[in-house]
Amino acid sequence: MTAESLATGAYLVAALLFILSLRGLSTHESARAGVTYGIAGMAIALLATIALLFQNAWGAPQGMLGLSLLVAAVLIGGSIGLWRARVVEMTGMPELIALLHSFVGLAAVLVGWNGALYEPDLSGALKDIHHAEVFIGVFIGAVTFTGSIVAFLKLSGRMSSKPLMLPGKNVLNVGALVLFVVLTVWYVLTPDLWLLIVVTALALALGWHLVASIGGGDMPVVVSMLNSYSGWAAAAAGFLLNNDLLIVTGALVGSSGAYLSYIMCKAMNRSFLSVIAGGFGIEAPTSSDEDHGEHREIDAEGAAEMLSGASRVVITPGYGMAVAQAQYPVAELAARLRERGVEVVFGIHPVAGRLPGHMNVLLAEAKVPYDIVLELDEVNDDFAATSVALVIGANDTVNPAAAEDPGSPIAGMPVLKVWDAENVIVFKRSMASGYAGVQNPLFFRDNTQMLFGDAKDRVEDILKAL
Ligand code: TAP
Repeated sequence: MTAESLATGAYLVAALLFILSLRGLSTHESARAGVTYGIAGMAIALLATIALLFQNAWGAPQGMLGLSLLVAAVLIGGSIGLWRARVVEMTGMPELIALLHSFVGLAAVLVGWNGALYEPDLSGALKDIHHAEVFIGVFIGAVTFTGSIVAFLKLSGRMSSKPLMLPGKNVLNVGALVLFVVLTVWYVLTPDLWLLIVVTALALALGWHLVASIGGGDMPVVVSMLNSYSGWAAAAAGFLLNNDLLIVTGALVGSSGAYLSYIMCKAMNRSFLSVIAGGFGIEAPTSSDEDHGEHREIDAEGAAEMLSGASRVVITPGYGMAVAQAQYPVAELAARLRERGVEVVFGIHPVAGRLPGHMNVLLAEAKVPYDIVLELDEVNDDFAATSVALVIGANDTVNPAAAEDPGSPIAGMPVLKVWDAENVIVFKRSMASGYAGVQNPLFFRDNTQMLFGDAKDRVEDILKAL
């Protein structure tokens, strides 16, 4: 048996493990097994690739150079990856993921350019296919590269989360796509290098513009969409490198990312096509900073007293719970209230926090039982029968403007209707707006009281008072 066929077999096993991994990641209970399958698949794929290269390199000076470069790249990249993964805060995960997507995009651009500069010996239709692969790979890669960089800048707060509203932005996006199709045909007919330079510049600008045009509230969809693009970029690189595993893995990431974006768009009542087309058809928000009146405050003792008399409590966590790392005292508070016979459930918004499943991960970490962690649809109709809703570091996901103000930038997004509860206590440090930069009228409602300060400290104060 040759090393090539052994590697092909190993790639097949790795691809199957990746499919099992995706399947496992779809539920809480099987997520851990899913991660193990993914790690096993990746380890097999990496070993098979290194072994193949090792065999090809044996005795050939150029092969040895390739092997040395591979070992150096794995060591340097692996060390940086290990260091970043160890130090990254949970709240910094989405921006790290966005940055990693940009590397996939850049790799696809470099592989594409390599395919153009060092053409394989092909003729006829195969040559045309190769040119189309180069062109499409560079395009997808470059869009992914700059799009992911903008997502990284927005998620890390280095760039405003407000949508960029260039005049005629839809015409610009559609024009860029039409130009890309024309240039692809041109390049297949006459593969001149200047065409590749033009398409690289065009795709870099398009990627930047697509993501810059999307507002803060839609960023979750953008992140999963870029995940999908990075998969297609990897698949394109797989075609150029003749690597089946890269094609299969890229297609898995591409299609699962696209499906996740679709599910998130549905959950947020957004048009999928509009978001992937850089906010196509979305007009600039008309909402103004109107005066909502005065807010009321409560202290930890007052909150503890209110909770002692409650029969049903719904806790809706958000990004602030992650920042404060308040999940442990929050879990303890839920357990303490349940011991006293209070019915306690958690209401999780699909985009609470900064990455899909962010709150679920934190609550699982703090050992909150899965059966009291409910999704938006499961909890939303029962707020009217709730004595106290505790909003812990959430803001956009509990904003009534989404349901009531058609001019709001988050209009139409489903939100947790905490205001239907008898009492609402909002834990946050100030009156600042949430990620989408929209004022929240909930804070000024008659049944709402603000509990200012770091969420972890305030929940611990309540535990003491209880
Ligand atoms: P946000 O709207 O982001 O609001 C979080 C609130 O937490 C802030 O208003 C902040 O107010 C408060 N906070 C921050 N640190 C705190 C601390 N230490 N203690 C107490 N409060 C603290 O939260 P959300 O309701 O979870 O909504 C998520 C937003 O992020 C949505 O707009 C969503 O579209 C977007 N987004 C989500 C994702 C995914 S996939 N989940 C990805 C990207 C973007 P103070 O500063 O006043 O404390």
